[in-house]
Amino acid sequence: MGVPVPDSVDYILLDEPTIQNRVQEMADQISADYHGIRNEDFLLVGVLKGSFIYLADLARRLTVPHRVDFIALSSYADKAEATGAVRLIMDTRADVAGKHVLIVEDILDTGYTLRYLYRLFEAREPASLRTAALLSKPDRHKVEVPLHYLGFSIPDVWVVGYGLDYADRFRTLPYIAALKPRVYQK
Ligand code: IMP
Ligand code: MG
Repeated sequence: MGVPVPDSVDYILLDEPTIQNRVQEMADQISADYHGIRNEDFLLVGVLKGSFIYLADLARRLTVPHRVDFIALSSYADKAEATGAVRLIMDTRADVAGKHVLIVEDILDTGYTLRYLYRLFEAREPASLRTAALLSKPDRHKVEVPLHYLGFSIPDVWVVGYGLDYADRFRTLPYIAALKPRVYQK
């Protein structure tokens, strides 16, 4: 049963139960921290495309009312390489002023993306602003960013699955896997 493991996959870093357990723990923590909040005041902002599966799982496990919105940014041009330059492609629909905003991001690599988003939202005067990243690669961080909720710290390898891609592939694998370096080191 299940999807065959693609040949490009080196090894599975985080399997499905491990991810689901951690996402449940994060949801429990977030639900406790935002206890008593009103639906119209709590806005989850998913960063497209990488966070779409993580956001769907996290949001469905929250026991506090919340709204869901999205923002889209430019990614690395189909290679495993940071440029440091971030471009806004699609903004949120909701006005975030006066709202409690939680940015939901797939992975913190250099930190440029989350730092850009943090500053962008901060300038819009939300009631509060927090970040929830599923993954972080501490060895790769170049800039400091406030990270309030983190799923897993991982080594400096390119990972795919559970929303994360390489050249827009492998997003819907149910686990998080390291790619064979030959796939992304050209
Ligand atoms: P940062 O701006 O360098 O922190 O990069 C953040 C973005 O790069 C993430 O939102 C991902 O879209 C992408 N990214 C970084 N590392 C990986 C990875 O290992 N797999 C897939 N995407 C990644
Ligand atoms: Mg991303």
